[in-house]
Amino acid sequence: MIIAIDGPSGAGKSTLGRMLARELKLLYIDTGSMYRAVALAVLESSINADDDIAVGSLASRVDIELAGDPDSMRVTLEGEDVTDRIRDEDVTHTSSIVSTIPAVRRAMVKRQRELGQRGAVMNGRDIGTVVFPDAMVKFFLTADLEERAERRLAEEREHNPSATYEETLEDITDRDRRDTTRADSPLVAADDAIVIDSSGQSIEEVFQRMMTFVREKADSVDG
Ligand code: C5P
Repeated sequence: MIIAIDGPSGAGKSTLGRMLARELKLLYIDTGSMYRAVALAVLESSINADDDIAVGSLASRVDIELAGDPDSMRVTLEGEDVTDRIRDEDVTHTSSIVSTIPAVRRAMVKRQRELGQRGAVMNGRDIGTVVFPDAMVKFFLTADLEERAERRLAEEREHNPSATYEETLEDITDRDRRDTTRADSPLVAADDAIVIDSSGQSIEEVFQRMMTFVREKADSVDG
């Protein structure tokens, strides 16, 4: 069983993905953390983030592992725990750039298919369109830009207490633009995705709506 959750930054994908994975006893895979780990590997090397060939080659050989349960997932890069470091501003910015490179996407998609082969709740930008186009349920989560910026800011402040609303708004606007306009696997809802606008709704409400869809789908598959 694959449950795909796509959507822009701050739409609630991680919180809801974790909740669904816990409830359904599935693996939770946050694909954004993989692009973030590639970005960190680039920042720690002498490679320029705009050098598509060098970044693509680095992405295909770098060792990235995701481990742990949905609530305490750890990310390692070449054996080193980088779970916190990949949330830093420079990594966030660079992840949005390196994820436009086709060779980087190919390398990540290959790993994501391997990781998800036994079933998972997987979130990202291209899960329902590219990584698992046959996913059992596909969600496309979205929310008003201002609300997404508020949510992202609350998360940011856990790592960076001086983060401001204006900076966060600018950052997600920028990343949304890059994600939706890139040539390779742009952020778009799959034709068969269930689109949920979570503006003004509590996480619990959205979670219950998503679970209803999952149960209906599971029942129809079981016949
Ligand atoms: O989801 P998160 O914000 O952690 O992702 C970091 C970056 O990785 C995003 O800005 C997006 O550009 C990229 N990404 C992607 N495809 C995915 C997941 C993330 O391009 N499946």
